[in-house]
Amino acid sequence: MSDALAIETQGLSLGYVGPNEPVRVLSGVDLAVGKGEFLTILGPSGCGKSTFLRAVADLIPIIDGRLSVLGEAPSDARRRRQVAFVFQEATLLPWRTVKQNIELPLQVGKRNVLRSANPRPDHWLGLVGLSHLSGRYPHQLSGGQRQRVAIARALQCEPEILLMDEPFGALDEITRDRLNDELLAIWRETGATILFVTHSVTEAIYLGGSVLVLAANPGRVQALIDLSSVKDHNGLCRRESAEVQEVAAHLRQLLREGGA
Ligand SMILES: Nc1ncnc2c1ncn2[C@@H]1O[C@H](COP(=O)(O)OP(=O)(O)O)[C@@H](O)[C@H]1O
Ligand SMILES: [Mg+2]
Repeated sequence: MSDALAIETQGLSLGYVGPNEPVRVLSGVDLAVGKGEFLTILGPSGCGKSTFLRAVADLIPIIDGRLSVLGEAPSDARRRRQVAFVFQEATLLPWRTVKQNIELPLQVGKRNVLRSANPRPDHWLGLVGLSHLSGRYPHQLSGGQRQRVAIARALQCEPEILLMDEPFGALDEITRDRLNDELLAIWRETGATILFVTHSVTEAIYLGGSVLVLAANPGRVQALIDLSSVKDHNGLCRRESAEVQEVAAHLRQLLREGGA
């Protein structure tokens, strides 16, 4: 296993406990994600996108094959708090302020070795543009602001790998586009490896260095597409550009073929 890889799988199968034998969701996944990469993931509903992220986060066991996270077993990576998760719903504690919500992983993780000797909730709040709201409660925030808190909370652990499962799926388009730019800035600042599941083809292209397309029935890898050809030297692209539209059409075709 290479040191430069954040995630490496070989013949990986994932699924859930069934009445007799495990029900397979994804099979034969061979994938290598380099450290610091931004990988977006597209695929029809139910093909196993969330299941894949859960396995990386060590929330479900592996059925077959190999999965290495930062060169070690997923359970070891999790124990060292190297992996953080952001979900579609921000799952904030309603009785804690914004700042107290962000401090939470530090308190839950007291017994673990913290990666940062100097916890910086204010720094992460600033990075997601919420310094002025640190004393508010979750019900006093918009959907976009709540997702920013969830991202700041994940960053507080200084994870090497950030797993994001449709984090902006419930937001309006303008807010989503703005958060896309903020996330790219955060990615550059932290150097984290990001795995980002989305239903939006445009979002997958805009954010990703490459995009993984999963297919359903049976769940499998359909394609891994490098996006560097549509990005400028800053890693950015224009959503309306002809190159982006062309890749988007190709991805939509793949999604149709894959059972979307
Ligand atoms: N806890 C679970 N137990 C049993 N089956 C599950 C569980 N979670 C998901 N599944 C099944 O696994 C398949 C993939 O689910 P999921 O990874 O959530 O898909 P996606 O995120 O791509 O929409 C679906 O058929 C779903 O019904
Ligand atoms: Mg899902």
